[in-house]
Amino acid sequence: MKILVLNGPNLNLLGKREPDVYGHSTLDEIMDSVKARAESLGAGIDAVQSNDEGELVTRIGEAEGNFDGIILNAAAYTHTSVAIRDAVSASNVPCIEVHLSNIHAREDFRHKSLIAGVCIGQLSGFGGNSYVLAVEAIIRYLEKKD
Ligand code: DQA
Repeated sequence: MKILVLNGPNLNLLGKREPDVYGHSTLDEIMDSVKARAESLGAGIDAVQSNDEGELVTRIGEAEGNFDGIILNAAAYTHTSVAIRDAVSASNVPCIEVHLSNIHAREDFRHKSLIAGVCIGQLSGFGGNSYVLAVEAIIRYLEKKD
Protein backbone atom coordinates (compact mmCIF):
# COMPACT_ATOMS: atom_id res chain seq x y z
CA MET A 1 0.00 0.00 0.00
CA LYS A 2 1.41 3.39 -1.04
CA ILE A 3 0.22 6.75 0.31
CA LEU A 4 1.01 10.22 -1.00
CA VAL A 5 1.24 12.96 1.65
CA LEU A 6 0.89 16.37 0.01
CA ASN A 7 1.75 19.57 1.87
CA GLY A 8 0.85 22.99 0.58
CA PRO A 9 2.19 26.53 0.96
CA ASN A 10 4.25 27.69 3.94
CA LEU A 11 4.29 24.26 5.56
CA ASN A 12 8.03 24.18 4.75
CA LEU A 13 8.30 26.84 7.47
CA LEU A 14 6.92 24.64 10.26
CA GLY A 15 9.04 24.78 13.39
CA LYS A 16 9.58 28.51 13.13
CA ARG A 17 6.17 29.54 11.70
CA GLU A 18 3.72 30.73 14.40
CA PRO A 19 4.69 27.94 16.84
CA ASP A 20 1.82 28.89 19.16
CA VAL A 21 -0.57 27.83 16.35
CA TYR A 22 1.38 25.12 14.53
CA GLY A 23 3.77 23.74 17.17
CA HIS A 24 7.55 23.43 17.26
CA SER A 25 8.09 20.38 15.05
CA THR A 26 9.50 20.81 11.55
CA LEU A 27 7.76 19.32 8.52
CA ASP A 28 10.59 16.76 8.21
CA GLU A 29 10.07 15.66 11.82
CA ILE A 30 6.32 15.30 11.28
CA MET A 31 6.83 13.38 8.01
CA ASP A 32 9.33 11.06 9.77
CA SER A 33 6.71 10.16 12.38
CA VAL A 34 4.11 9.64 9.64
CA LYS A 35 6.50 7.35 7.74
CA ALA A 36 7.31 5.36 10.89
CA ARG A 37 3.61 4.82 11.67
CA ALA A 38 2.82 3.90 8.07
CA GLU A 39 5.70 1.41 7.94
CA SER A 40 4.52 -0.20 11.18
CA LEU A 41 1.15 -0.73 9.45
CA GLY A 42 2.76 -2.09 6.28
CA ALA A 43 2.36 1.00 4.09
CA GLY A 44 4.86 3.27 2.33
CA ILE A 45 4.79 7.07 2.21
CA ASP A 46 5.94 9.60 -0.36
CA ALA A 47 5.90 13.09 1.19
CA VAL A 48 5.90 16.22 -0.99
CA GLN A 49 5.71 19.92 -0.11
CA SER A 50 5.00 22.67 -2.62
CA ASN A 51 4.09 26.33 -2.39
CA ASP A 52 2.69 26.11 -5.89
CA GLU A 53 -1.03 25.44 -6.49
CA GLY A 54 -0.43 24.02 -9.98
CA GLU A 55 2.19 21.60 -8.67
CA LEU A 56 -0.29 20.29 -6.09
CA VAL A 57 -2.96 19.89 -8.82
CA THR A 58 -0.45 17.99 -10.99
CA ARG A 59 0.60 15.66 -8.16
CA ILE A 60 -3.04 14.83 -7.37
CA GLY A 61 -3.72 14.21 -11.06
CA GLU A 62 -0.73 11.83 -11.31
CA ALA A 63 -1.63 9.85 -8.17
CA GLU A 64 -3.92 7.28 -9.82
CA GLY A 65 -2.00 4.09 -10.55
CA ASN A 66 0.90 5.20 -8.36
CA PHE A 67 -0.76 5.63 -4.96
CA ASP A 68 -3.63 3.98 -3.08
CA GLY A 69 -4.49 7.03 -1.00
CA ILE A 70 -3.74 10.73 -0.56
CA ILE A 71 -3.35 12.72 2.65
CA LEU A 72 -3.63 16.40 1.81
CA ASN A 73 -2.86 19.51 3.80
CA ALA A 74 -3.52 22.15 1.14
CA ALA A 75 -2.83 24.85 3.78
CA ALA A 76 -4.18 28.26 2.66
CA TYR A 77 -5.35 26.79 -0.69
CA THR A 78 -7.90 24.80 1.33
CA HIS A 79 -9.98 27.94 1.57
CA THR A 80 -9.53 29.25 -1.98
CA SER A 81 -8.69 26.57 -4.54
CA VAL A 82 -11.41 25.29 -6.85
CA ALA A 83 -8.57 23.78 -8.92
CA ILE A 84 -7.38 21.56 -6.04
CA ARG A 85 -10.96 20.58 -5.20
CA ASP A 86 -11.57 19.62 -8.84
CA ALA A 87 -8.33 17.61 -8.93
CA VAL A 88 -9.35 15.63 -5.82
CA SER A 89 -12.86 15.18 -7.20
CA ALA A 90 -11.54 13.95 -10.58
CA SER A 91 -9.11 11.53 -8.96
CA ASN A 92 -10.18 7.98 -8.22
CA VAL A 93 -7.70 7.94 -5.32
CA PRO A 94 -9.34 8.43 -1.90
CA CYS A 95 -8.16 11.51 -0.04
CA ILE A 96 -8.20 12.66 3.59
CA GLU A 97 -7.84 16.38 4.36
CA VAL A 98 -5.61 17.28 7.31
CA HIS A 99 -4.76 20.42 9.26
CA LEU A 100 -2.45 20.91 12.19
CA SER A 101 -4.68 23.60 13.69
CA ASN A 102 -8.43 23.37 14.25
CA ILE A 103 -9.56 25.48 11.29
CA HIS A 104 -13.10 25.66 12.73
CA ALA A 105 -11.84 27.40 15.88
CA ARG A 106 -9.91 30.09 13.99
CA GLU A 107 -10.80 33.09 11.79
CA ASP A 108 -14.09 32.86 9.87
CA PHE A 109 -12.33 32.63 6.49
CA ARG A 110 -10.68 29.37 7.61
CA HIS A 111 -13.97 27.69 8.57
CA LYS A 112 -14.77 26.93 4.93
CA SER A 113 -12.86 24.18 3.15
CA LEU A 114 -13.47 23.87 -0.59
CA ILE A 115 -11.80 20.46 -0.47
CA ALA A 116 -13.45 18.64 2.46
CA GLY A 117 -16.62 17.86 0.51
CA VAL A 118 -14.73 15.69 -1.99
CA CYS A 119 -12.62 13.91 0.64
CA ILE A 120 -13.43 10.83 2.73
CA GLY A 121 -13.08 13.04 5.79
CA GLN A 122 -11.12 15.73 7.57
CA LEU A 123 -8.73 15.65 10.56
CA SER A 124 -8.09 19.08 12.00
CA GLY A 125 -6.62 20.31 15.27
CA PHE A 126 -4.28 17.55 16.45
CA GLY A 127 -0.99 19.16 15.43
CA GLY A 128 1.41 16.77 13.69
CA ASN A 129 -0.73 13.93 15.00
CA SER A 130 -3.47 14.91 12.49
CA TYR A 131 -1.25 13.30 9.82
CA VAL A 132 -0.60 10.16 11.88
CA LEU A 133 -4.32 9.76 12.56
CA ALA A 134 -5.00 10.28 8.86
CA VAL A 135 -2.55 7.52 7.94
CA GLU A 136 -4.29 5.15 10.33
CA ALA A 137 -7.70 6.17 8.96
CA ILE A 138 -6.80 5.83 5.29
CA ILE A 139 -5.15 2.43 5.81
CA ARG A 140 -8.24 1.14 7.61
CA TYR A 141 -10.46 2.61 4.87
CA LEU A 142 -8.39 0.98 2.11
CA GLU A 143 -8.21 -2.39 3.88
CA LYS A 144 -11.99 -2.47 4.30
CA LYS A 145 -12.51 -1.57 0.63
CA ASP A 146 -10.81 -4.74 -0.66
C1 DQA B 1 -3.38 24.84 7.96
C2 DQA B 1 -4.57 25.77 8.25
C3 DQA B 1 -4.73 26.78 7.13
O1 DQA B 1 -5.82 27.65 7.41
C4 DQA B 1 -3.48 27.61 7.00
O2 DQA B 1 -3.60 28.52 5.90
C5 DQA B 1 -2.23 26.81 6.90
C6 DQA B 1 -2.11 25.61 7.73
C7 DQA B 1 -3.13 23.86 9.14
O3 DQA B 1 -2.47 22.85 8.90
O4 DQA B 1 -3.55 24.13 10.27
O5 DQA B 1 -1.29 27.18 6.22
O6 DQA B 1 -3.68 24.04 6.83
